[in-house]
Amino acid sequence: MLPSTAGGNDVSQHRESVLMRCTKGALFALAFCAAALAQEQPSTRAYEPQSGQAGKDVVWVPTPQITVDVMLELAKVGPKDFVMDLGSGDGRLVITAAKRGARGMGVEYNPDLVELSRRNAEKEGVAGRARFVKADLFETDFSQATVITLFLLTDLNVKLRPKLLALKPGTRIVANTFNMGDWLPDDSVELGYNAGCNSAWCTALLWIVPARVEGTWAIAQGEVSFKQRYQKLTGALYTEGTTYPLAGSVRGEEIRFTANGREYTGRLNGTKLELRP
Ligand SMILES: C[S@@+](CC[C@H](N)C(=O)[O-])C[C@H]1O[C@@H](n2cnc3c(N)ncnc32)[C@H](O)[C@@H]1O
Repeated sequence: MLPSTAGGNDVSQHRESVLMRCTKGALFALAFCAAALAQEQPSTRAYEPQSGQAGKDVVWVPTPQITVDVMLELAKVGPKDFVMDLGSGDGRLVITAAKRGARGMGVEYNPDLVELSRRNAEKEGVAGRARFVKADLFETDFSQATVITLFLLTDLNVKLRPKLLALKPGTRIVANTFNMGDWLPDDSVELGYNAGCNSAWCTALLWIVPARVEGTWAIAQGEVSFKQRYQKLTGALYTEGTTYPLAGSVRGEEIRFTANGREYTGRLNGTKLELRP
């Protein structure tokens, strides 16, 4: 159907008048009329994004499907998850997450990509669980996500980092290839050519938002003081009248460290630190 705000007849009349002008005009006018007529043609071709096309803060390049699958596997995405892709392109990460039973939302600045994502979700039968919004990812509230997916540049990841670190401990962040500056990943998978990935975008990186445990805590065994740099812990354990240096890490709310040759594990339970042994 012709796109028109004036109704079908008005459009036909307009096209006729363009034709009339064409028959009367000189050669240069014919060229003008051809262009005018071309503008009158409805676009029958579906929107096809081009890899590398401009985007607001970063271009659109799609994550290869094999990397999408590995990213979601690394983050253990399942039916209990709410996955948000920041800069969601054609929707493939959110759609694949929805196929794994999760709910998802894509945030994308380009309205044509948003529409394409909605059509793709419809085609894949997951439109009920995969939502797409036209928005700036830097102005979006993603605090409800249990998993965040990213295929942005390192400096954009770093710009997002304070908001990511403020998410609920245990939230998983998984990125295609680009790192998070000096916040090192908790895990990663590098797909080689033999694994079926033949582009530059074959690395999945996982971060797990660490609980904020810095400070001094009274524990059943004595007292523990943590200094925290992202998920890395240093500090001291005071037990049985002696102070020992410690080194360890925090993964979500799970704490693990070694002091005096012994391994301690535990978790932050509200405001209480419970340690074993
Ligand atoms: C490299 S592509 C990744 C697309 C998709 N996440 C994937 O992995 O296939 C980055 C996407 O971010 C979008 N984008 C760039 N700046 C944005 C912004 N400020 N807010 C929302 N989307 C943005 C681009 O339009 C592009 O679709």
